[in-house]
Amino acid sequence: MARTTIPDLHEAYRDGEPLTMLTAYDAPIARQVDRGGVDMILVGDTAGDNHLGYDDTIPVTMAEALSNTAAVDRAVTDAMVIGDMPFGSYGQSMETSVDNAVRFLQEAGADAVKLETAPNGETTIEIIDRLTELGIPVQGHIGLTPQRMNQIGGGYVQGRNHSSSAATDALVETAERLEEAGVFAVVLETVTEETGKAVTEAIDVPTIGIGAGRYVDGQVLVITDLLGLGSESFALSKQYADLDSTISTAVEEYVSDVAEGAFPAEENVYDSLEE
Ligand code: KIV
Ligand code: NA
Repeated sequence: MARTTIPDLHEAYRDGEPLTMLTAYDAPIARQVDRGGVDMILVGDTAGDNHLGYDDTIPVTMAEALSNTAAVDRAVTDAMVIGDMPFGSYGQSMETSVDNAVRFLQEAGADAVKLETAPNGETTIEIIDRLTELGIPVQGHIGLTPQRMNQIGGGYVQGRNHSSSAATDALVETAERLEEAGVFAVVLETVTEETGKAVTEAIDVPTIGIGAGRYVDGQVLVITDLLGLGSESFALSKQYADLDSTISTAVEEYVSDVAEGAFPAEENVYDSLEE
């Protein structure tokens, strides 16, 4: 089966089927996420805090993002793979922005890229317009845009600021301009349910929410939040598994097995392998 295409996503959207997206940063997790049946896999810059050991997304480089995306690409057969353009990889000039977006497709096997846009962010709207004209599929991202955290004042779950109607209007207008620039979908991060609904009603491409309430066209979660793996998770997420305890139990059992001489046992030694 070929990977999910933009027409596939738009058909599901028109049929009123909720779309699903999860992040992945490496091959083994991406393989499971793909088998689980999501429509899209985002190789998010949340790799910063959830995969690479940084405090946030700001330090993630193009080299790291391309490496993560290529690993995911090698493991995925069905879902659309979206490369999240890291902080500083777009915006300085049209030339470097286009160049870096092209690298996600040519070098890392991504099917699309995602860029964050500030409310009425002229620079990125213009870049996205250029990318889509050139045939590079783009997913928009508005609301809480973590790459601007040093300016916004950091922290998740403070997009509640968007409840004022002026802020909602600005997000609706930004989403409309992104649609005009050719995005195939828009991620809406941490906005009130009312804002999520207003943006979703205003545009004719799917909205994919994270902490954006129920009245959006699809959902995205960070995979480590869903799996209970690693750092404290986003408050509006939902944890479906507890990998931290599964892994720590396994490691503790291994350490005590070795200490007690229970591993390797007779069946684990080379001589016991069938010829
Ligand atoms: O990088 C990421 O994981 C994201 C999602 C939270 C949408 O941008
Ligand atoms: Na991101």
